[in-house]
Amino acid sequence: MSLFKLAVLISGSGSNLQAVIDAVADGTIPDAKVELVISSRDGVYGLERADNHGITSMVINRNDSAKLSKTLEDHKIDGIVLAGYLSIIPPKVIKTYKSKIINIHPALLPMFGGKGFYGIRVHQAVLTAGVNYTGATAHLADNEYDTGDVLVRSVVPVLSGDTAEVLQKRVLEVEHRTLVRAVKALAENRIDELVKNPVTFVSEEDREGVNAFAQGMINLGKALTETDNGDL
Ligand code: GRF
Repeated sequence: MSLFKLAVLISGSGSNLQAVIDAVADGTIPDAKVELVISSRDGVYGLERADNHGITSMVINRNDSAKLSKTLEDHKIDGIVLAGYLSIIPPKVIKTYKSKIINIHPALLPMFGGKGFYGIRVHQAVLTAGVNYTGATAHLADNEYDTGDVLVRSVVPVLSGDTAEVLQKRVLEVEHRTLVRAVKALAENRIDELVKNPVTFVSEEDREGVNAFAQGMINLGKALTETDNGDL
């Protein structure tokens, strides 16, 4: 049985990449392999993570779409994960890998997403807006920033006294399992099912507050929440 070959695209420290590497290694993401790590920047820690696990890695300039396409083709890549990749994917690659490219975003899309919403800016915007909940979203990539079909969301509370840095740390923790859940569905060929019924995970203690959030989703005809018991 051939393994589902993943290419993980990064631009920074790669903690989401590490979560995918670990989930493939322990079988949470079954019958898959992180075949390639591609960074848009040199000297980032994510490249060291790839080296530490003996994974082929390289730097490809964000504007070199021909090299990106050829590299993915040469390695017979089945699916692509954008793990803190700070650039838009060339239309040719989006077309070739339709519904096979997953991005992780540190907010509850469609809120606080789009051009300019990346890194600490997202969490500053959440605090400025004064919302009670934020979280992470794994979604399919399309030709725009953060507008592809949502697959998995995980909700965390915004607590009084939170700084953008504290919030970023709390969100990053749930980003990892949000991304792993979506990549697991990709490797198990369950993406269509998730596009139809995206899943939103909440912690038990936040459930009541988040049900208001869920009620909004219901009014929009979207799926209900699931209790986050940590199972992946
Ligand atoms: C994450 O917050 C991700 O959502 C955002 O960039 C950050 C990358 O973190 N796009 P890491 O490099 O995976 O640690």
